[in-house]
Amino acid sequence: MNGKRRLNYQTDELIPGYWSKKITRRKAISTTAKVAIAIGVGAAIAAAGIGTGIYYATRAPPKKPEEKKLAIYHWWTAGGEREAIDAVYKLFKEKYPDVEIIDNPAAGGGGAVMRAAVKAMLLAGQPPDTCQITYGPGMIQSWAKFLEPIDDVWEGLPVPETLKSWAKVGDHYYVMPLNIHRDSNIWYNLKLVNKIGIEVPIETVDDFFKACEKIKSAGYIPFAFGTVGGQRFWLNYILEWFMMASPNGGPDYVNDFNYGRAHPATDPAVKDALKNMETLWKNYVNPDFGALTWDEAGKLLMADKAVFNYMGDWQKGHFMASGWKPDVDFGWQPAPGTEGASIVHGDSFGVCKGAPHPTYAKAWVKLLSTAKAQEDFCVIKGATPPRTDVPLDRFDPMQRRIIKYIRGHKIVVGGHGVVEAWLDKCGEILEEFVTSFNIDKTVAALDTAYREIYPKPLE
Ligand code: GAL
Repeated sequence: MNGKRRLNYQTDELIPGYWSKKITRRKAISTTAKVAIAIGVGAAIAAAGIGTGIYYATRAPPKKPEEKKLAIYHWWTAGGEREAIDAVYKLFKEKYPDVEIIDNPAAGGGGAVMRAAVKAMLLAGQPPDTCQITYGPGMIQSWAKFLEPIDDVWEGLPVPETLKSWAKVGDHYYVMPLNIHRDSNIWYNLKLVNKIGIEVPIETVDDFFKACEKIKSAGYIPFAFGTVGGQRFWLNYILEWFMMASPNGGPDYVNDFNYGRAHPATDPAVKDALKNMETLWKNYVNPDFGALTWDEAGKLLMADKAVFNYMGDWQKGHFMASGWKPDVDFGWQPAPGTEGASIVHGDSFGVCKGAPHPTYAKAWVKLLSTAKAQEDFCVIKGATPPRTDVPLDRFDPMQRRIIKYIRGHKIVVGGHGVVEAWLDKCGEILEEFVTSFNIDKTVAALDTAYREIYPKPLE
């Protein structure tokens, strides 16, 4: 209930226009002035007993020397994620031993909790130094207004042009990606697949449902999923999977969709996708999906209760951190019907405007641009380094296959790389759908939200 309340609030906050309406420049200035006047009045009376608040309010406060600190906000608290960020902290500490890292992990996979917390801080004029921002053109365009350009850090980096372009808004680069995740994956419990007699890889959605039926008859959960704690946006991932698998959709369609170039009301791929979601949810998903997080859903596979899970490759990092071995305990395949393309997004950090420790925020971002940081992080996280010169020998064979797949095929913007307001609103609509199964109402709701959120396509 609490989670629900928070998310509604968050969604409202994130409708484009609403955010800027709430903190128009004038309002922000007048709020700052009010705070300054209040401080000024107090200081004037206390310090000198003379003067007016207005006088103090117009004087800039004395600038404190920058402390050797770095305040970082992120949501990497689950297995695999935590270890991966710790590996990068270790590199930072080696390079800057006397800088204190103020680590602020906001538990809540996918970042709904952290995004709301950081937005509140930004509103209050208390920005952190840096925070996790999922990497994709939509999300970066949603956050760039809070960030300083970091063009110099990008100079000469061996990152493919498409990925590079996601960091850019107008003429400037605003964030540095640390990793790229592949979103369109099916993970499976290898032992159960063999025991039940499922042939993998499964190539089509129809065959996938047949396999699910067989698993159900054998007494296991065919498909494990979790959407609790604000994590309903994982449902968007399923919509993307099925739009990509639809004969009326495909990878270019999903890419266009996430660039704001689609028409949900009339595009048949949207209806096709909802029909498949209905089949999956009515028949094959764990009934308590609304009470589990993404990693708890993964645990159903590890407990030999469920066979399949659809999730980004951070699930692989999670499995591995729990001692489950790739190609021994669990298997991977591109989601059925999506062969030949990967839906991807990444994770990035920038330097917040007004960061209290800008020197170290910049140093952090610079560190993330190095091959070493990307290697140490991605090996643990289950991810692809954005830089193409990162040596791959420390990556396990499954991750190498995933990296090769991403680099050798078309990439499609999706997952958490979309416009922030869409991420939240689409999740809210789909959460309703997986209990009501009202396709026409859902298409209409998606269309209304889409047209509001994308008055025009992204650049
Ligand atoms: C994604 C993020 C991943 C992973 C996941 C679960 O949004 O890009 O790095 O952390 O959430 O928390």
